Amino acid sequence: MTLVLGIESSCDETAAALVTDGRDILAQAIASQEEEHSPYGGVVPEIAARAHAERLAPLIERVLAEAGKTLHDCDAIAATAGPGLIGGVMVGLVTAKALAMASDKPLMAVNHLEGHALSPRLADANLQFPYALLLVSGGHCQILRVEGVGKYQRLATTIDDALGEAFDKTAKILGLGYPGGPAVEKLALAGDPRTVPLPRPLLKSKEPHFSFAGLKSAVLRAHDAGQHGDADIAASFQQAALDCILDRTRRALSTMAPVSALVVAGGVAANQTIRGGLEGLAGEFGLPFTAPPLMLCTDNAAMIAWAGVERMAAGFEPDPLDLKARPRWPL
Ligand code: KG4
Ligand code: ZN
Repeated sequence: MTLVLGIESSCDETAAALVTDGRDILAQAIASQEEEHSPYGGVVPEIAARAHAERLAPLIERVLAEAGKTLHDCDAIAATAGPGLIGGVMVGLVTAKALAMASDKPLMAVNHLEGHALSPRLADANLQFPYALLLVSGGHCQILRVEGVGKYQRLATTIDDALGEAFDKTAKILGLGYPGGPAVEKLALAGDPRTVPLPRPLLKSKEPHFSFAGLKSAVLRAHDAGQHGDADIAASFQQAALDCILDRTRRALSTMAPVSALVVAGGVAANQTIRGGLEGLAGEFGLPFTAPPLMLCTDNAAMIAWAGVERMAAGFEPDPLDLKARPRWPL
């Protein structure tokens, strides 16, 4: 059995997890910083870095104790090395390096996006490469063909905001606080998605790229005009976002080489309306649809540990202890 300790600290969740190559999550812990950041309506990098520094070591001790393991039982230490808020990434990576050095275990540096991209395989042992992946989080909005560990073909990205960012900004406009995605989804349940006319940026355009800045501005105008209730705005926004996602993903799927499944991952994959729409789209192409369980969609350390497991199994070398954290790191 291979056992990997995973560490995640690239945004506003401090997390540690122990995962085996048999897909068992022996223990995991996540400390969210929602309370610290919510007064500011978004993540404040300096506050995030300090909170990671305070919380990470006790979290790691906790998951080891819960699983009845010590560092010496681990085969590797995997940590997010980017992309993300650099202060937080450094806290996680430096901690991983110190643990790797102290226990003489290999360090596996993980791209956070690779963590999201491979997380569906942690949840689903039957998911085979290659698969089409819609990666939708607070910082990213991409369509990838996941061809193997370390082999990612990017077909589309956003030319402005990420989808999660659009949810968060809509939440801010509607006074729903941070993080916005779950709050917008909840309020949308009480609204009618057909009431507020909103744009669908880039709909039908040839390249499958995304754009959400215009949609967000239209939400702001609709809100300021005062003619619609907040629930109707939330529902109409969510519908417009879904229409864009479906149109763009349909376009990408129709040009992509064959795949085994359509998969969604990243924080926005927690949204039930978006999951439902994508499931229907997969059906149009005769593809199975998979989405990881909610706890693996938003940032977590199990996906980082799993990416470490996958990288080791695929024969990737451990990373050197002088490896630098990378605020930007395309897949
Ligand atoms: O993957 P993630 O935890 O962090 C990043 O790597 O960005 O994604 C967080 C994003 C936030 O923008 C949050 O508002 C969004 O995912 N999100 C949702 C939902 N849950 C989280 N968006 C829509 N509906 C949800 N239920
Ligand atoms: Zn993420």
